Amino acid sequence: MAALEGKICVVTGATSGIGLVTAEHLGAMGARLVLVGRDTAKGEAALLRVRRRAPRVQAEIHYADLARLEDVRRLGAALAAALPRVDVLVNNAGAIFRRRDVTRDGLERTYALNHMAYFLLTALLKERLAAAAPSRIVSVASEAHRGATLDFDDLQGARHYSGWTAYQRSKLCNILFTRELARRLQGTGITANCLHPGFVASGFGDNNDGAFRVALSIAKRLFAISEEKGAATTVYLASSPEVQDTNGLYFKGCRPAFPSAAAQDDGAARRLWEESARLAGLSPPRRVC
Ligand SMILES: NC(=O)c1ccc[n+]([C@@H]2O[C@H](COP(=O)([O-])OP(=O)(O)OC[C@H]3O[C@@H](n4cnc5c(N)ncnc54)[C@H](OP(=O)(O)O)[C@@H]3O)[C@@H](O)[C@H]2O)c1
Repeated sequence: MAALEGKICVVTGATSGIGLVTAEHLGAMGARLVLVGRDTAKGEAALLRVRRRAPRVQAEIHYADLARLEDVRRLGAALAAALPRVDVLVNNAGAIFRRRDVTRDGLERTYALNHMAYFLLTALLKERLAAAAPSRIVSVASEAHRGATLDFDDLQGARHYSGWTAYQRSKLCNILFTRELARRLQGTGITANCLHPGFVASGFGDNNDGAFRVALSIAKRLFAISEEKGAATTVYLASSPEVQDTNGLYFKGCRPAFPSAAAQDDGAARRLWEESARLAGLSPPRRVC
């Protein structure tokens, strides 16, 4: 029997790059795929691709702009209503924005998409993940977190903004989020881990323009690994029996790795959680986990 036969896997950012290749692999392992995208044409193309790789795969796609809390709430409610359980949630959709932009929720776009969507979608699917236990939450972070610290007085980069710094901080958030989530999930049968995929020749950064985009595309051509290789650690964490009980770790090249000291700060992880719950409107009395 294939490794993921009968398992339901939700993958965000599944219409291109690392997410699409991840979905292809999980589908080929027998999973029922629930893809999340934001563009219908790309969504249809992604469905065709996963079906080409695994002709018998059961696959569907849902659409949401994950930078908008309202869309994440609508998506979470739709998935929770449609799915009996979620065996694997892959939080993968992310981007870098050279220019600062604020969403209609008043959140800086990098923070909203790269961190708040992971946080809120996970919270909204928690009961479905519990119904599937043992189940897994896999969040795509990055080595870019190194050198970053969180400024809790300016999480939205209102006082000072650099696209790279905002991206670094959002990836630090992914690791701190995983750390605190894993602590809260102990004993539930749900695990949470995160990873660095490598420097990957995906569409990453292509939403920007000017010298930034040119420099990034040259760097990708010279130094980046393929999307296929870039998806390997996500696929490993989503499917391997070796990590069935592993909880709260950061992986690189399918092995546990130490993230930066700032990413191991339990106080910062707790504070980020509380601030994210407040921003998402999930503060007490409703508990997230
Ligand atoms: N590439 C790297 O070197 C690298 C390194 C470390 C970490 N990462 C992380 O890997 C993850 C995947 O990135 P990638 O390299 O595969 O980049 P990518 O090819 O640009 O894919 C990003 C995915 O996120 C989706 N997305 C972007 N904005 C969205 C929004 N507002 N709402 C919903 N979906 C949205 C994109 O949708 P569309 O298909 O519609 O564009 C796409 O499917 C990200 O979290 C990134 O931070 C990448």
